[in-house]
Amino acid sequence: MRRPRARLAVLVSGRGTNLQAILDATRDPDYPAEVVVVVSDRPGAYALERARQAGVPAYVVPWRKDPKEFGVRLAEVLERHGAQWVCLAGFLRILDPEFVERYRGRILNIHPSLLPAFGGKGMYGERVHQAVLQAGVRESGCTVHFVTAEVDAGPVVAQVRVPVLPDDTVETLARRVAEQEHRLYPEAIRRVVTGEVRFEELAQSRR
Ligand code: GRF
Repeated sequence: MRRPRARLAVLVSGRGTNLQAILDATRDPDYPAEVVVVVSDRPGAYALERARQAGVPAYVVPWRKDPKEFGVRLAEVLERHGAQWVCLAGFLRILDPEFVERYRGRILNIHPSLLPAFGGKGMYGERVHQAVLQAGVRESGCTVHFVTAEVDAGPVVAQVRVPVLPDDTVETLARRVAEQEHRLYPEAIRRVVTGEVRFEELAQSRR
């Protein structure tokens, strides 16, 4: 008998191409997870439309001055939908530590660089690729990691490398990385929900 699928919440703020990649993966009945709810902090996020098109409940939880209050509202929505895992997919806010603790070891994020390089507060979107090009490094990539209280610093689940080419612009590099993100995220989610990769083991081996 097939195991019940893991129940994912996906948090978004923007266009949602990673959400789309996850939704597409879940169309395979053998994929071990399903998206049960999508939450955006921004009403205009195109990702909400993608969720609706896939028949997944989608909500806006507007950002609050007090991140703790946002965390409480968010948790209410996730609980109502029985979400077990939280996947950040282009979600641009920093979650409050109490929320992170509540879902300890069950929150994933995708970042468009080879963390720990080019990560941390303020490093998101085009800024990451800009910094990579400015640094003149020959390789970049993307990382899926567990979320902990420290931004972009949780244990790494999986990474993919891509070359940085001499005539790259932010756009060409971003496109090359994004293509890999869309393959990496569904695969990293699979590894985590099946227990192939475990937060506690990764966290311990870093101590
Ligand atoms: C991706 O590059 C992801 O790594 C970063 O934000 C971007 C989101 O893009 N965290 P999309 O909304 O999934 O298209």
